Amino acid sequence: MRTDRPIGIFDSGLGGLTVLEAVSRRMPEEDLIYFGDTAHVPYGSKSKETVTRYSLEVARFLAAKGVKALVVACNTSSALALPEVARSLKVPVLGVIQPGADAAAAATRNGHVGIIGTEATIASGAYTRALRERRPGVRVTTAACPLFVPLVEEGWWSHRATTLVARRYLEGLRRSGIDTLVLGCTHYPLLKGVLRRIMGPRVRLIDSAEQTALETERLLLSLGLRRAGGRGRRRFFVSDAPRRFLRLARRLVGVRVRVVEQHAFD
Ligand code: DGL
Repeated sequence: MRTDRPIGIFDSGLGGLTVLEAVSRRMPEEDLIYFGDTAHVPYGSKSKETVTRYSLEVARFLAAKGVKALVVACNTSSALALPEVARSLKVPVLGVIQPGADAAAAATRNGHVGIIGTEATIASGAYTRALRERRPGVRVTTAACPLFVPLVEEGWWSHRATTLVARRYLEGLRRSGIDTLVLGCTHYPLLKGVLRRIMGPRVRLIDSAEQTALETERLLLSLGLRRAGGRGRRRFFVSDAPRRFLRLARRLVGVRVRVVEQHAFD
């Protein structure tokens, strides 16, 4: 396989742009193709069957674009559909759960980790399993935070309403004695300020974007697929009309997206 092929990055919507940014910072030479499945977002409240079907459609689309590796930036898709996606492609596939769990396992001092994510991610138990594989005996406390995604998309990162909702969701985690909290959803890094204030300075927040970028680079290097030079280009696709994606990408993630192409699935 040629090293100058692009890396595919996929999310249910625009939250995965945080992963795109991290990959781009670490490997500015690489071409990136991003797909936001905006016609089907949110994945976080859907069943495994549905999330798997959507994820496979996107993965096949990106494979047809000739990607040399695929990063599933969506936590829900990584939790529910990663094995199926990996089996369906000929190129290596990486999710965000394992990198997030690795970072949390390395960070915790007292062996008690909290995980927050969408309903589907939390119900899947994927983070808990990944953590226990890396650190047997680790204590895990989880909480689903379904209102966080719409609050972030509304731009209410430090709004009073968000603080109220977060206090309620994090009540149990605050009392549980965790020293590390995994932000197990693409949107949650944007709420770091509120989450930090509520959880206090002794709890480390784990954002899997950086760790995922690092592991993507390691994977490409180990396969001899890392591009040596040049300046990478980015291409963006969405499955619904691009207008909202364009506006929110700039406002929420600060990513300058000029052209977004639409690919609708039947
Ligand atoms: N991208 C999803 C995740 O990381 C959040 C948005 C959604 O529910 O689709 O879990």
